Amino acid sequence: MTWKEAEEGQRRRRTKGAPDYDRAEYWDAKYANEGTAAHAHVEWLGSGAVMAAKLFAHLHACCSQRTVLHIGPGTSGLVERIEGEYGRRAWPIDCIVNVDFSIEAVCRGQVQNTGSQWVQADLRDWTSVQTSLLPLVERHGPFDAIVDKSTSDSISTSGPCPSSCHLIDELEQQQGREMDPVDVLACHLAALTRPGARWFVQSYSSTRFDQEGGKAGSGTTRPPPHWTVLERQPIEAPHEGPGAPPVYHWLYTLERC
Ligand SMILES: C[S@@+](CC[C@H](N)C(=O)[O-])C[C@H]1O[C@@H](n2cnc3c(N)ncnc32)[C@H](O)[C@@H]1O
Repeated sequence: MTWKEAEEGQRRRRTKGAPDYDRAEYWDAKYANEGTAAHAHVEWLGSGAVMAAKLFAHLHACCSQRTVLHIGPGTSGLVERIEGEYGRRAWPIDCIVNVDFSIEAVCRGQVQNTGSQWVQADLRDWTSVQTSLLPLVERHGPFDAIVDKSTSDSISTSGPCPSSCHLIDELEQQQGREMDPVDVLACHLAALTRPGARWFVQSYSSTRFDQEGGKAGSGTTRPPPHWTVLERQPIEAPHEGPGAPPVYHWLYTLERC
């Protein structure tokens, strides 16, 4: 089953046999069963090298604190890539916060004890975000950047996620519309970031931020609330084998309004 099928399946509510990408238990089992060696990586959508380059250009150009929230890092090698670059630039590594709802991923990261912070939280759940991440914002200030390699993809397969976050449009709450899970994520991330912060998203989907507008069936598209889509860049995916046609992933750069 592909990401797209899982997302479609969720829209029609659960498809029999679909992986539970939106459940922490699914990821716990995956990380426990694949790559049990401390440094083994389970990697989605390639290495994230292009995204890392964009992240550091942003942090270098316009940030003083250089605080990064890496959402859903799992056991990706992108964590080490970002830490390595902080080390080379002599930036404080504890300005990197990794957040995942998989306790398996968080424990693995904590055991490696490389200096970045690891937090367990469900990013769809405002209470969880408030409890686990807002205290860090109070301590370090709002984040300058978000790194997201296929975590929005995972969250997009969720069912409705009611949230009491103050940044969720009052009208939407009053209308009782089922909030798109990526919109809920966008509002929660907006509450953790400063205006001008960037959200770098690598996705399998060329339409990740072309969701339908507020009115059912209106067919309009709009960016996620509180964010502007600055750029959508195709990235050639790792080759499947000789003669395989090129496949593209998409790197989005969003700016906090
Ligand atoms: C597709 S994997 C990507 C992992 C990693 N970023 C990579 O590129 O290899 C999605 C990750 O997001 C995490 N995740 C999914 N939904 C989440 C949620 N609601 N809150 C926090 N983490 C979540 C999963 O545990 C998993 O580690």
